Amino acid sequence: MKPVEPIVPLVPVAPVLEVQGLTTWLRTPRGIVTAVDNVSLSVAPGRALAIVGESGSGKSMTCLSMLGLLPSNGQVAAGEVRFKGRNLLALSREDMARVRGREIGMILQDAMTSLNPLMTIGSQVAEVFRYQQGIRDRAELRRKTIDVLTRARIPAAQDRLDSYPFQFSGGMRQRVSIAMNIACEPDLLICDEPTTALDVTVQTQIIGLLDTLRRERNMAIVFITHDLHLASQFCDDVAIMYAGRIVEAGPVDRVFAKPVHPYTEGLLRAVPTLGATGERLATIAGQPPVLSDLPAGCRFAPRCAYASALCHERYPDWYEWNEGADSVDPRGERRVACHATEARLQAAWSAS
Ligand SMILES: Nc1ncnc2c1ncn2[C@@H]1O[C@H](COP(=O)(O)OP(=O)(O)OP(=O)(O)O)[C@@H](O)[C@H]1O
Ligand code: SF4
Ligand SMILES: [Mg+2]
Repeated sequence: MKPVEPIVPLVPVAPVLEVQGLTTWLRTPRGIVTAVDNVSLSVAPGRALAIVGESGSGKSMTCLSMLGLLPSNGQVAAGEVRFKGRNLLALSREDMARVRGREIGMILQDAMTSLNPLMTIGSQVAEVFRYQQGIRDRAELRRKTIDVLTRARIPAAQDRLDSYPFQFSGGMRQRVSIAMNIACEPDLLICDEPTTALDVTVQTQIIGLLDTLRRERNMAIVFITHDLHLASQFCDDVAIMYAGRIVEAGPVDRVFAKPVHPYTEGLLRAVPTLGATGERLATIAGQPPVLSDLPAGCRFAPRCAYASALCHERYPDWYEWNEGADSVDPRGERRVACHATEARLQAAWSAS
């Protein structure tokens, strides 16, 4: 599925979400580990940012840190999370809960975890309106519930209000979860692998639904996924995470067309091509590091074919640039944390 052209604002729009230097510690039996390390990202209204990376790279922890939903052994150690100008990290627990329900939605991989198995679909969705908007009138609650379920493409929603989650398929449950999260028309939707548990057809429907909603409501979306095809089709921008850090970020079409970080390159090489037969998939040799035993320099160095002595000693600084002649490119700049960026950029440009 290729949705319509990405939304490119003529005038750069202020981001709805701006994360600066977010750092999260987790207490573990092996000591305190840094699961999210100096992560910065931003998303403008109507745009979708993909966060991709191998399992354990810190994608979910980044989002949970932003939303104040860390497990009890977790703690944000540094950084700012500005949402519509306010620093979410400075909000009280109550204020944060209000922002989460009304202005930020979160859709998880398995909708079952966000639905109450003992409550009917209708009463769960109505509860959102009751709690977040203070609506008490039963007829209005029913009308709003049917309306939002219909918007989330639940067929004959008025006949499904008394059903329980177990009576719905995985795809339908995910739609209910989407309905609950868009009920208050949030400005930001955070989706943590929302379609991983679904078959390809249902996945396409759910992505189509999310895409329509973001266009209709100008919602910003943070979309965590392992699926690079999906990221390239649905999202405008991408941030690649490795061992708690973002290593490369920029407009998704450009990053995927000309990856600069060796890890991004490796991830893209490992994506199967439809129809290609007899070819062995290129995997990235080795394993991601354990957080309690990180390498001294670049965290990717033990797996990187381009690693130099410097890579093993010092973590690389950001290298930032705008591509093409247009230096005020509204789609934002590209950035890469790799000591070999300059040489690899030269190689990429001379090859094109
Ligand atoms: N409750 C926890 N206590 C201690 N460590 C945790 C906890 N949850 C996650 N971690 C660790 O934090 C790191 C980041 O985990 P996170 O869940 O953010 O990864 P992820 O990128 O979302 O992976 P996946 O793609 O598998 O969902 C991992 O090393 C993980 O083992
Ligand atoms: S900094 Fe060095 S080890 Fe790390 S990705 Fe770049 S070349 Fe490889
Ligand atoms: Mg995760």
